[in-house]
Amino acid sequence: MSKVTVVGAGNVGATCANVLAFNEVADEVVMLDVKEGVSEGKAMDMMQTAQLLGFDTNIVGCTNDYEKTANSDVVVITSGIPRKPGMTREELIGVNAGIVKSVAQNILKYSPNAIIVVISNPMDTMTYLSLKALGLPKNRIIGMGGALDSSRFKYFLSQALGCNANEVEGMVIGGHGDTTMIPLTRLATYKGVPVSNFLSEEKLQEVAAATMVGGATLTKLLGTSAWYAPGAAGAFVVESILHNQGKMIPCSVYLEGEYGESDICCGVPVILGKNGIEKIVELPLNEEEKAKFAASAAAVRKTNAALQEVGAL
Ligand code: LAC
Repeated sequence: MSKVTVVGAGNVGATCANVLAFNEVADEVVMLDVKEGVSEGKAMDMMQTAQLLGFDTNIVGCTNDYEKTANSDVVVITSGIPRKPGMTREELIGVNAGIVKSVAQNILKYSPNAIIVVISNPMDTMTYLSLKALGLPKNRIIGMGGALDSSRFKYFLSQALGCNANEVEGMVIGGHGDTTMIPLTRLATYKGVPVSNFLSEEKLQEVAAATMVGGATLTKLLGTSAWYAPGAAGAFVVESILHNQGKMIPCSVYLEGEYGESDICCGVPVILGKNGIEKIVELPLNEEEKAKFAASAAAVRKTNAALQEVGAL
């Protein structure tokens, strides 16, 4: 039996659980939240869609009962507060670091072999914190930011091209922050043809800029951070792991020399399969892209340094 736990049954966590159930990614999906009754209620609500939508996944909700999460294959951590309009993801560190650390430790007690997918913000730093706090091998801790950012990038590219988003390929690497993301416009394609054949440099810069503030734009519109694409991106990452699909997905992972960086979790393309990170893929970046990656990593490292200030590491 395959089992996935989603910690945090807010907008992002519940959406992730819903997509996992609807797509029958796992046999059982457990949602855990600190708010009394919320996970139980959302699980029951979702289970009442099973007959309408035709899925067989069992969804269980619980209030802070980690025993129910026991022996999960994959655990998704969405706990913590989301950002409000005008806030950066980095500003959430003071509140979220303590929450994410204690969640990760509790999870590991009951699922010692689980692969952990981190969604909580600031995502790269929360991934790094989980890795350091749990002391697990690096293949088992994965931050999902790049999956979301790449999906937004493909959306904005498809809007500019006037085409179906599924006809577009592209990746965003670097940190999951408004100023640290690196949409790789040079390597993006429309049906295998470089997008620069169809879009001007100016238009490509616009697409890149819209991608980078994609989350902030939605936060302004919604009054809180987005959830459909973040939740679906989490489920997409889980599926490649649990079904051993071996997809190449940009994720925040621990680097040991790759891309010229060490002792940091930052977004790079990885192959995701049954062991979590099966391989880190090194892209042939040009000098400009390399410089952007170095700057992005420096910014993530600065946020990581705050983990000590808030007493999380
Ligand atoms: C976003 C948040 C979830 O990008 O980081 O929408």
